[in-house]
Amino acid sequence: MLLQDQIALITGSGRGIGRAIARLFAKEGAAVFLTARTEKELAETAAEINASAPPLPSSSKDRAAAYATADLTRAADCARIVSQCREKFAKIDILVNNAGHYGPVLPVEDYPLADFDAVLSVHLRSAFLLSQLVLPEMYARGSGVILNMSSLSAKAAFSWGSAYAAAKAGLLGLTRVTAAEAARKGVRVNAICPGPVTETRMSKELGADLARRLGVNPEEQLQAFLNGLLQGRAQTAEEIARAALFLCSSQSSAITGQSLNVDGGAAFY
Ligand SMILES: NC(=O)c1ccc[n+]([C@@H]2O[C@H](COP(=O)([O-])OP(=O)(O)OC[C@H]3O[C@@H](n4cnc5c(N)ncnc54)[C@H](OP(=O)(O)O)[C@@H]3O)[C@@H](O)[C@H]2O)c1
Repeated sequence: MLLQDQIALITGSGRGIGRAIARLFAKEGAAVFLTARTEKELAETAAEINASAPPLPSSSKDRAAAYATADLTRAADCARIVSQCREKFAKIDILVNNAGHYGPVLPVEDYPLADFDAVLSVHLRSAFLLSQLVLPEMYARGSGVILNMSSLSAKAAFSWGSAYAAAKAGLLGLTRVTAAEAARKGVRVNAICPGPVTETRMSKELGADLARRLGVNPEEQLQAFLNGLLQGRAQTAEEIARAALFLCSSQSSAITGQSLNVDGGAAFY
């Protein structure tokens, strides 16, 4: 197993990509601490993981998954979940900054400032805050991994998602700078840039909003977009989770400061 005895704090893990990452990490031997705003989804994900994950070392009385609700746009909630994860599992080896939402589908000139701030806050500010909170422990131990969930939107140009693209591009800058500071202290920091993972709620809502705005059929609009990718298909949450596992395990021990495109062939840098 690739993550034996590792403790992973995974944000946005009640559904979608975060949930797939939590399930795969637990399958690979990690104990996972889940967080999002919706308790029901966290409870279901934790229960499913606890029912199926391999047993933790016999010395541990812990279950493989635990959770706490949090709104990561609030700095106090970021601090609280780090404390709760440590209370539950004693340490944090892996931080996955995955939580996020797309925000309104609007041109720059119409984009409300409050929405811009909210989108930056959940994607970028929370990743910064959580990194600040876990790095001292990782530095003291001389090991740790941070993975930031960016997007194809950080590397391409799609209309009507200015805050989202800015947040995701900002995450790549944060990834590189944190990696530079952390590399000689045993900590690696990377990012994933997924393409369209059409099974998730965020992606479905975005597709519906875009089709409404364009006045086109949502299925046709999606197919036209997918046809622009080399593979001509969407990515799955499971495929993103497998890339996350690679970047958070020792399999990628010489990789830091990078962004890995998992987009079926869309961005090429
Ligand atoms: N799907 C795609 O096509 C795609 C492509 C590229 C990148 N991504 C990125 O992948 C990540 C996961 O997205 P997804 O597609 O899996 O969407 P999703 O199914 O909607 O999941 C988003 C997760 O983030 C949580 N979240 C949202 N706002 C939050 C807040 N303020 N505080 C705490 N948790 C919050 C959600 O839970 P609550 O609502 O319960 O809080 C949920 O667990 C995001 O960063 C997204 O930008 C997705």
